[in-house]
Amino acid sequence: MLTKADFLLRDDIHFLNHGSFGACPRELLDVQRSWQERLEHQPVLFHRELADLMQGARSAIADYLGAQPTDLVYVTNSTFGVSMAAAMIAPMLAPGEEVLTTDHEYGACLRAWRHHLQGTGAEIVEACLPLPAPSMDEIEELIWSSVTSRTRVLFLSHVTSPTAIRLPVENLCARARERGILTVIDGAHAPAHLPLHLHTLNADVYTGNFHKWMCTPKGSAFLWVHPSLHRAVQPLIVSWGNLIPTAGDGSFVDDVEYLGTRDVSPFLTVPEALQWMHRNEWDLVQMEARDLRDYGMHMLLRKGLAACSDWRADELQMGAVLLPSSTDVQWLKNELYNTHRIEVVVHRVFDHAVLRFSTHAHTSKGDLDALSMALNRLL
Ligand SMILES: Cc1ncc(COP(=O)(O)O)c(C=O)c1O
Repeated sequence: MLTKADFLLRDDIHFLNHGSFGACPRELLDVQRSWQERLEHQPVLFHRELADLMQGARSAIADYLGAQPTDLVYVTNSTFGVSMAAAMIAPMLAPGEEVLTTDHEYGACLRAWRHHLQGTGAEIVEACLPLPAPSMDEIEELIWSSVTSRTRVLFLSHVTSPTAIRLPVENLCARARERGILTVIDGAHAPAHLPLHLHTLNADVYTGNFHKWMCTPKGSAFLWVHPSLHRAVQPLIVSWGNLIPTAGDGSFVDDVEYLGTRDVSPFLTVPEALQWMHRNEWDLVQMEARDLRDYGMHMLLRKGLAACSDWRADELQMGAVLLPSSTDVQWLKNELYNTHRIEVVVHRVFDHAVLRFSTHAHTSKGDLDALSMALNRLL
C-alpha cells in the first residue's frame, strides 16, 4: 500500500491540503526525469519522435477517460483549459446573452470568462449556492432555476474549490443539451478522484487536472472538446498548428497541443501514472482515503461544526466545514501551520469561515488527530 514515504512530503508537516496542488510520488517524478533525460540525450531525435509519443499518451488517457483520442489534448492545467473554452465561446455570444455559473467557482477561471466576455455584451450570472449546501438534487434544481431564455452557456466546477461541493454535472449537462445550452465543466478535481466517462457525460467542453488527484508531475491536464466544436477552437498561443501535423487527424489537436519547445515530460508521464495507479490498486487507495475523509468529518462534526455539503453522498476525498463565523481565518491558519505544523485550507467564503481538508495515500489518522487536538485548543 502507498504511504507518505512514497512521496516527498516533509515528515514534520501534517499535509491535509492535497486538494490545492496535489503531491507527486517519487516514482512518478523519476519517470518524468527519465523523459527529460531522454530528450537531453538527443534533443533533435526526441522532437522527431514527439508526435508519436504524444499520440500514445493521448490514446492511453482517452481510454481511461472514456473519450476518443482525437477529442482531447494535453494542456498545462485546468485554468488553461477554461481560458481556451472562454476564448472559443465568447465570440459566439450576443449582447444580453448569459453564461450561467455558481458563486463557488475558482477565481482564476471566472477571471478568464470576464476577460474573454469583455466587449461582447454577454454577461456572467451566478446562481447562489447557500452554505451549508443542500443535497445534489436540490443543487441541481437551484442551478437550473436560474436558466433563462438568455442562458447560452452553463459553466460549472465538477467539485467546487472553496467548499469541496460535488455538483450534479451529469444531470445538468443532459438538461442543458436538451435546451441547446453549451456546457463547460471545470473538472480540476475529477480525474482519478471521481468516476469520469467523457463520452457519456456529453458536455461541450471538459477540462481536468492530472496533477491533483492522479498525483502526476505539475503541469499535466487535459482539455476535451465535443467534435461539433472542434472547428471553433482557437489556440490561445499560436504555434505551428497544422503546419507540423502531430495528430495527423484533425486541426483541433494540432492547433492546441503543440507549443514549440516546451516541457512535455508531465504529459508523457501520464500513461505511466495510469499503470502506477493500477499497480497500487487505486480502488483500495481511494477507499482508504474516503474512509479517512469520513473519519475527519465525524471528528469535526463532533466539535459542533456544520458540514458545507451533503458529504455522506459525495464520495470525495475532500471535506469542508463551517467554522464559527467570528473566526479570524488568517490567525487560525497561521496558528495551525506555525504552531501545530498542519497544512490545511482555512479561508473566508462570503460571510462564512471555512476549513477544507483533503485525504490521499499519504494521509494518516494521526494527521487528522493532530488537526482535532489543535482545533480543541484554538477554537
Ligand atoms: C475548481 C478548480 N478549478 C481550477 C483550478 C486551477 O487549477 P490549476 O492551477 O491546475 O489550473 C483549481 C485549483 O485548485 C480548482 O479547484
